[in-house]
Amino acid sequence: MATASPTQKEGSQHGCEEQHNQYPKQPVAPFHSFFRVGFCDDIHTAGCRPVQGGFMNELFVWAHRGASNDAPENTMSAFQAAAAAGANGIELDVHLSRDGIPMVIHDETLDRTTNGSGPVGRMRAREIHRLDAGRWYDPVFAGESVPALEEILQWAGDGIRINIEIKDPAAVLPVLKLVRNFPMVPVLVSSFNAGLLEDLRRKDPELPLGFLCDSHFWRLLLQRAEKCRAESFHPNANVISRPLVAACRRRGLAVYPWTFDWPGDVRNLRRLGVQGFFTNSPGIMVRRLNSKPAQGNL
Ligand code: G3P
Ligand code: MG
Repeated sequence: MATASPTQKEGSQHGCEEQHNQYPKQPVAPFHSFFRVGFCDDIHTAGCRPVQGGFMNELFVWAHRGASNDAPENTMSAFQAAAAAGANGIELDVHLSRDGIPMVIHDETLDRTTNGSGPVGRMRAREIHRLDAGRWYDPVFAGESVPALEEILQWAGDGIRINIEIKDPAAVLPVLKLVRNFPMVPVLVSSFNAGLLEDLRRKDPELPLGFLCDSHFWRLLLQRAEKCRAESFHPNANVISRPLVAACRRRGLAVYPWTFDWPGDVRNLRRLGVQGFFTNSPGIMVRRLNSKPAQGNL
């Protein structure tokens, strides 16, 4: 696997109905029990590989778009780098291709991260797959493709947890169908679109859900997350506060803020009492977590 210096271009865009028991035993109930008994093994071990050094006093490290400071975001190289770095989970973004295949790409268009152009939804999956999704980042990564979500679920197996962020409401059913085809993969489905998540909950009473929040007016959204029996609340780093964490705790939701790439942030995250965080640099952050035990750092 190739690696390169962190020359990542900055870019950001925010933009079945039957019951089943196919998912690993990790979703809502185990996490709620964490707060009841004040013990954090459930959330960290649920279907996931262990963190070096054990789980207690550790934070769950989500690699944001993979190890996206070390490899082109949302590519297999970035995901493999994240796993090698010791991340507990990988976050990825999903848009739908013209032929209805969930593709792993952040933007609504192909322009920024591939050598193609135009909306993702105007091209067939096979055509998208042929594009180069690595050269924009560094020529070392030329030949990287835009993965289909299915490839990533196949790769993940029953190991690393996958946070699927759905960008396109049209992707709800195709994603649901896919994750049901991979019941061993521990997933967490998130979105900025609360209505989309509520729709998912109606379709699936068990699927672990995470509510993304990038507004200081988070209280109403948190109420919706609780009602939806979400597993977690994912606030922007600019939005997180002690009252937000306390409110999540009262409602039994995990807090996974995004994104933190500076090792010094670990201390503040521990003090805030979050359960994990998103980072573009999982290697650096995992090393800090393992080198400075929580008790000695508070
Ligand atoms: O899930 C956290 C983060 O991915 C949300 O923002 O724009 O990077 O998808 P974005
Ligand atoms: Mg995302």
